[in-house]
Amino acid sequence: MSGPVLVTGPTGNVGRAVVRALLSEGVPVRAAVKSPERTVALLKEMDGEVMPVPLDFLRPETFRPALEGVRGVFLLRPPAIARMQETLNAFVDAAVTQGVKHVVFLSVDGAEKRAWVPHHAVEEHLKRSALGWTLLRPTFFAQNLGDAWREDLRQDHRLYLPAAHGRVAFVDVRDVGELVTRALLDTSLRNRAFTLTGPEAVTFDEVAVMLSEALGRPIRYEPASVAGYVRHLHRRQLPWGQVGVQTLLHVGLRFGRAEQVDPTLANLLGRPARTVRQYIEDHAPLWR
Ligand SMILES: NC(=O)c1ccc[n+]([C@@H]2O[C@H](COP(=O)([O-])OP(=O)(O)OC[C@H]3O[C@@H](n4cnc5c(N)ncnc54)[C@H](OP(=O)(O)O)[C@@H]3O)[C@@H](O)[C@H]2O)c1
Repeated sequence: MSGPVLVTGPTGNVGRAVVRALLSEGVPVRAAVKSPERTVALLKEMDGEVMPVPLDFLRPETFRPALEGVRGVFLLRPPAIARMQETLNAFVDAAVTQGVKHVVFLSVDGAEKRAWVPHHAVEEHLKRSALGWTLLRPTFFAQNLGDAWREDLRQDHRLYLPAAHGRVAFVDVRDVGELVTRALLDTSLRNRAFTLTGPEAVTFDEVAVMLSEALGRPIRYEPASVAGYVRHLHRRQLPWGQVGVQTLLHVGLRFGRAEQVDPTLANLLGRPARTVRQYIEDHAPLWR
């Protein structure tokens, strides 16, 4: 197989990990960048090794030039995009027209059973398409600690979530990035779906202890009520659609929605998956 792999969302958590993993395997990367101002930072971070190309899921005219001549695509649904038909699904149709052979889609744990999750529509569309596909369904990212929950940790020294004392089998996106690369290079993973979790399920109380130890200052977990969490996300200026999805996903943690440990990721990588403690220890400066 020749030609580059197109990576969508390359300036985000998972896309960056995918770019790094592909480059480390010597695979040429075309990075589908939405904003020109982020391109410069991305090129600097990747030592100029990626080829940037403009792509905006809200601008269909950007689809064909981004897809021309690529051997495969890593497809991600940006959190702010809620309507799939005219965005990601139209992009999948453009990939078929351009003769793309394989799309690895970053879905979410349980998307196959929950039609209200936006990823569900993309999964179904890919399965009906003429493309080869691989669906990756990770549970909660350890990287949420350094992204969505970072300001709560830095400003308020707390984790504030409506998860009660539910356990979470956090997955590290660095492992997801490596698996995406495997899936793009290894045809045996085509037309299959995988649930991805980390190696252990921990409570947020335990995560708070790990953070306190790594940072040398007390971090606490404060269970939020549903109303309190909605107000909190609104104050953080999240659009209402995202407030709804985020609240539903986090409340599900109370009922053990993300506590199941699945050995698939470790089995496919041929080594243990990274723990949330490892993620915290590797990234302590993020919360200083
Ligand atoms: N967080 C979790 O625990 C978790 C767990 C399982 C699955 N997921 C799924 O993972 C995905 C999020 O991944 P992530 O954390 O890597 O996201 P992220 O860090 O928010 O990155 C989103 C990426 O999408 C790009 N983007 C935004 N709007 C775009 C548009 N209109 N057209 C093209 N690109 C656009 C962004 O570019 P700019 O940088 O230019 O904005 C950025 O590169 C979501 O689908 C989520 O449901 C998340």
